[in-house]
Amino acid sequence: MTPPVPSTAFLTKADKTPLTGAPLVRLFALEIIMKFFTALVGLGAFLSMLGPVGAEAGDAKAGRQKLTTCQGCHGLDGLSKNPEAPNLAGQVESYLVRSLAAYKSGERKNESMNIVAKELSDEDIADVAAYYASIQVDVLPP
Ligand code: HEC
Repeated sequence: MTPPVPSTAFLTKADKTPLTGAPLVRLFALEIIMKFFTALVGLGAFLSMLGPVGAEAGDAKAGRQKLTTCQGCHGLDGLSKNPEAPNLAGQVESYLVRSLAAYKSGERKNESMNIVAKELSDEDIADVAAYYASIQVDVLPP
């Protein structure tokens, strides 16, 4: 069985003439512009994955130096050393920042954490959050 030949009856004369010269150049130009914008969108998405930029972005290295009071309970590796304290390794950074700010303000109540968080500046909070969030965690569900 031969496949049906698609009808070109609906095409106008202009559609049937092969693209050459100026129309072809315009098509190429359009394609290049579209590729440029696609690349721009891709770049934006990539940059946003790098996390917050500017002053609020925590410094994980500095954060590691500031954990002297934290590690007794949460561990330097973010794995809890105290049955009451949660693991922090690999926790979402913005969640860590929010939690610490809430302990500091007293909005979230815990005897130990309210005392500890009171001593932290906003920069300390950003740094320790960046450090605990940067710890890689491998998950192996049962
Ligand atoms: C004396 C032990 C102790 C010390 C020291 C301590 N924590 Fe905690 N931390 C806890 C306990 C217990 C909780 C759970 C509190 C609760 O139920 O809200 C907690 C909760 C947290 C949470 C919230 C976690 C979650 O899953 O919601 C963060 C973030 C946190 N601690 C960070 C820190 C940081 C940063 C330090 C050091 C500056 C620190 N902690 C020092 C005991 C401690």
